[in-house]
Amino acid sequence: MDIEERVTKLRDEINYHLYRYHVLDAPVISDAEYDALYRELLALEAAHPALVTPDSPTQRAGAEPLDAFAKVTHPAPILSLANAFNVEDLRAWRTRIGRLLPDPEMALAFTVEPKLDGLSIVLTYRDGLFVQGATRGNGEIGEDVTPNLRTIRSLPQRIPVSQSPSTRLGADDEVSPLPAPPAYLVVRGEVFFPLDKFEAFNLARMEAGAAAYMNPRNAASGSLRQLDSAITAARPLTLYLYDFVAWDSGDQGSGDVPDEQWARLDLLRQWGFPVSPDSRYCPDLDCVAAAYEEWAEKRNHLNYEVDGIVVKINKRPLADSLGFVGKDPRGAIAMKFPAQEKTTKLLDVVVNVGRTGILAPAAVLEPVEIGGVIVRNATLHNYDEIARKDIRIGDMVIVKRAGEVIPYIIGPVADLRDGSERVVTKPTHCPVCGETAVQPPDEVAIYCENPACPAQLVRRIEYFVSRGAMDVDNFGAKTGVLLVEAGLMHDIADIYALDRESLLALEGFKDKKVDNLLAGIAASKGQPPERLLTALGIRFVGSVVAGLLLDALGSITTLAAATPEQLQEIEGIGPETAVSVTTWFANDKNRAILEKLRAAGLNFAKAVPAADAQQPATLAGLTFVITGTLPTMSRDEAKAFIEAHGGKVTGSVSKNTDYLLAGEKAGSKLTKAQQLGVSILSEDELRALV
Ligand code: IVH
Repeated sequence: MDIEERVTKLRDEINYHLYRYHVLDAPVISDAEYDALYRELLALEAAHPALVTPDSPTQRAGAEPLDAFAKVTHPAPILSLANAFNVEDLRAWRTRIGRLLPDPEMALAFTVEPKLDGLSIVLTYRDGLFVQGATRGNGEIGEDVTPNLRTIRSLPQRIPVSQSPSTRLGADDEVSPLPAPPAYLVVRGEVFFPLDKFEAFNLARMEAGAAAYMNPRNAASGSLRQLDSAITAARPLTLYLYDFVAWDSGDQGSGDVPDEQWARLDLLRQWGFPVSPDSRYCPDLDCVAAAYEEWAEKRNHLNYEVDGIVVKINKRPLADSLGFVGKDPRGAIAMKFPAQEKTTKLLDVVVNVGRTGILAPAAVLEPVEIGGVIVRNATLHNYDEIARKDIRIGDMVIVKRAGEVIPYIIGPVADLRDGSERVVTKPTHCPVCGETAVQPPDEVAIYCENPACPAQLVRRIEYFVSRGAMDVDNFGAKTGVLLVEAGLMHDIADIYALDRESLLALEGFKDKKVDNLLAGIAASKGQPPERLLTALGIRFVGSVVAGLLLDALGSITTLAAATPEQLQEIEGIGPETAVSVTTWFANDKNRAILEKLRAAGLNFAKAVPAADAQQPATLAGLTFVITGTLPTMSRDEAKAFIEAHGGKVTGSVSKNTDYLLAGEKAGSKLTKAQQLGVSILSEDELRALV
């Protein structure tokens, strides 16, 4: 292949991958592989400038915005950064810029900031009020995602955010007045998906039948670039700010932006913007080099993904005077960390059993060192995902490690196959207890439905004793595993059969610990039946549904005898829940558990409410409309909830509507509510309201 053909091919390929990544949120190659393609094209174009075309990916820093969002023209180009890959590159950068300085050897101080691997955003404030938020887009034109950004709790709607001086200043600091923000202010930052929320979020998505996000960056992007901001609202996005794009103080004479980057970060922070607490000031280049080494290790202990550090000349006017190379300012550079990705062999795919009985595939890998840690296992999300990516046992696979989350498999390297690879088959039985596996229609997840399955049992016990359920005091994190392993618990009801002697025989259980545990267990017997019903862990029966069922039927005993038809007559109970509940109670093993709980003296029936103990009518006089899919309540449940608190629910939005309760996939009602200025609530906000 001659050079021209290669350049054309690279261009097409990279454009395709940019599209997959930035527009579809569904990359098919790893970031490291993409970087390699890009660098190859960059090098070829540098050697043969005649081959550069206007549509080359090197000529634009991002992808085209989606058509469905309004376009926003940025007040100044939203720049990118040149990359360095090691300390040598860093020193070469310093030498290059030295040639442009009045004195090449002059002392330079720097700020070092984490290079967040999220989604770049641009926020506009007028007179301190957040008026517009946009994605970076192609650097000149981005997408208007104002309503979506508004849903991010850490984004200030107005600055300065009031804060008490004691939180802002050390006790000995001189108290200087906080400068007022300029009348017109445009700032820049990065939206990201916190790592600690990522895995649980993906699991919940899978349980709801949706595909998992491949990595936190895609989850952030997919969550922010939603036409329906109610979906964004239900996602735990957050952001950090790090730069000023434009500002104008108008006639007010105040609102000067400091010259130093370090002071700018501080000012952003003082105004109330989230700013990474991990940034640091470096008086010289050696400090930067040391910070880079430190960060390469530290990155694994952060709650956000970083792919490098950003080094900025602290004196911004000086930095800006150095100009640009293409879209990259000379006054700053990104120092990338070595890829946290490696290729290794997929030895096997085993099945992990979760609390709800989900049978989740897990990869067993030929051990490989990634970023200083030996990786032996990786998540595979679900079996549909394995099939979609065509991952086979024996394949060489690309494994990525991100922070403390379990590493995951990006995909196979199909070119390295020798024909001995085996297709992964869905489990037909639970690997631990042997029960037949069940895949509900329209779901990607596969379940073991045996309530006595030991693996599931540990998870069920954890759930039973948790704060949202029976709230058993003094039940430690490892207690469940110990009890199941010691054969002291065969189902959740056995918790009430535990005796002092057998507990004392467990490792690490002394008198005091055993007494405390038994006291906690005994106290939990007094919990009301709603909590007990919740703690049984029946699918679709959380605390709200448990409350509805018992309000209607009065006792778990009556509930156990109900038919699906009877349950569906209850306000707020849909067909899925009705079937799930009756199926659970029809199971002999579950019935046995129930009888043990009854014999242990737990509360099965609701106490008859005193006349004056009704729920206060906090929503009296308010009219609601419900739209979209809510995170935990069905629409009927939400209606019942609102009515139980004295509110009224109607079918269509009008000027008489007080609130629109909106969930995912809200449509025309949401638009109408926005037009009429009706307040929009999430499920959480509704709960907060009562
Ligand atoms: S400064 C001149 N600072 O990295 C200003 N960028 O590879 C250029 N990024 O497009 C950007 N953290 O999306 C800057 N602390 C940080 C950053 C950061 C992440 C992203 C940003 C930029 C990309 C450049």
